Amino acid sequence: MNDTVKPVTILELGQKKGRGEKIAMVTAYDYPAGLLADEAGIDVVLVGDSLGREVLGYDNELSVTVEDMLHHTRAVRRGVRRALILVDMPFLSYQVNEDEAVRNAGRILQAGGNAVKIEGGIAIAPTVRRLVNAGIPVMGHIGFQPQSVNVTGIRRQGTDEESAQRVLDDALAVQEAGAFAVLMELVPANLARRVTQALEVPTIGIGAGPGCDGQVLVFGDVLGLRRDRPVFKHAKRYANLGDDILAALTNYAEDVRSGRFPA
Ligand code: KIV
Repeated sequence: MNDTVKPVTILELGQKKGRGEKIAMVTAYDYPAGLLADEAGIDVVLVGDSLGREVLGYDNELSVTVEDMLHHTRAVRRGVRRALILVDMPFLSYQVNEDEAVRNAGRILQAGGNAVKIEGGIAIAPTVRRLVNAGIPVMGHIGFQPQSVNVTGIRRQGTDEESAQRVLDDALAVQEAGAFAVLMELVPANLARRVTQALEVPTIGIGAGPGCDGQVLVFGDVLGLRRDRPVFKHAKRYANLGDDILAALTNYAEDVRSGRFPA
């Protein structure tokens, strides 16, 4: 490996916005995915709590624990040299009180994360401030928030003027509290563009159109790993690895049974 590699910094992400350069972000949950994302030149690798759905087989993000996130962050860290590693704080790890939030976020940084992401806007801004004051960089996550799926259902946010204003106010509140960037999930493209123009810090979109400063996708969606569910409307598939893996494993099993392997 190249020892002269220069890791991506929070500062650099802000400078990219200033220069109009887009930020590429993808999720990863283990060592080989981290290695590949880093070699591909991805700027930010997100150890997302989508881990629950994508890797652990849960229905949603709510069952993911701090211990799960620590375990997978350590694995990703072993593969990543250049990209910034951003880690989701899982459900109940930062909502109960600010001391717990600092302790859990601190453990995530000790496991190899460079920054954490937390969901919520105005309501969570004091926690963002507390984390930043403790030396922990924070990305906000507004619009649709998977950890609140039982309250909102899975649906686009900011679709009427009142809720669009709420999304904008949430973005401004987390920026004001010290967040270094804001992720917007499932919001109309024109609103995401408006928020991006209103903020000094970079925005990252998922299902938020092309007007954000960067984009994030889930690893398995980019690669077409999942054969058990359709591709989300906002995602783009760049490969069909689920089909390829199935074919390879089927061929291997047939070769073993027929005696063709080992030769
Ligand atoms: O956990 C996750 O995958 C996310 C997405 C919004 C990228 O937070």
